[in-house]
Amino acid sequence: MTDPVEGAKKLAAYKAVDNHVVNGVIGIGSGSTVVYAVERLAQRVREEGLEVICVPSSFQAKQLIIQHGLKLGDLEMHPELIVTIDGADESDKDLTLIKGGGGCLTQEKILASCAEQFIVIADYRKASNNLGEQWSRGIPIEVIPSAYRVVYQKIEKTLGGKSELRMSGSSKAGPVVTDNGNFILDWKFDGLKNNWREVETQLNMIPGVVENGLFVNMACKAYFGMSDGSVMEQT
Ligand code: A5P
Repeated sequence: MTDPVEGAKKLAAYKAVDNHVVNGVIGIGSGSTVVYAVERLAQRVREEGLEVICVPSSFQAKQLIIQHGLKLGDLEMHPELIVTIDGADESDKDLTLIKGGGGCLTQEKILASCAEQFIVIADYRKASNNLGEQWSRGIPIEVIPSAYRVVYQKIEKTLGGKSELRMSGSSKAGPVVTDNGNFILDWKFDGLKNNWREVETQLNMIPGVVENGLFVNMACKAYFGMSDGSVMEQT
């Protein structure tokens, strides 16, 4: 693999799957790094006879599970997961995460909360000391469509910063619509903060907010693929 970033994603994903997946029910996150985790899972199923049921966090994750011929499950049948493996947009020194670059933060947080272990896989660009140093697009917030404007105003009034309604781009006119039929606001906060739990709670208290992409005290370990071919582990 010649692209160093893709190589780094693959290294992290493979190592996490090798170190944490045993027979049982697994939560599958979303994004481009998770693609490699599912690839490795499928290999281990074929080669080692590993027996896993995979619960997806998104339409994308579901398609990946199906394409790789893995067993598909859901939280109604399997509310307890042995591990959830997922990517991140940024991860700080305390393993506080920004997630939701792909718009799947709500189901991702649910799967993370149902797992005995929540493991992060990412390339070297995602590791930071303080949230906001690497990911410049802000904190994704899933909102009920009719409330996006009032949520936007309330965030600005109580927490400052600026929010943007995430737009679809050239493939469709209008805003991004999540797998749950909602909109995404990307909130660019002012300055550095050290009270992320409080910020997470404050955001979720605003009526109209479904969930936000701050993951505080959820991850137990992160694997970062590095450009030199090593994997940095952080707990
Ligand atoms: C999806 O909503 C996100 O939380 C992803 O997990 C996150 O954006 C990381 O994606 P990549 O693995 O593509 O960087």
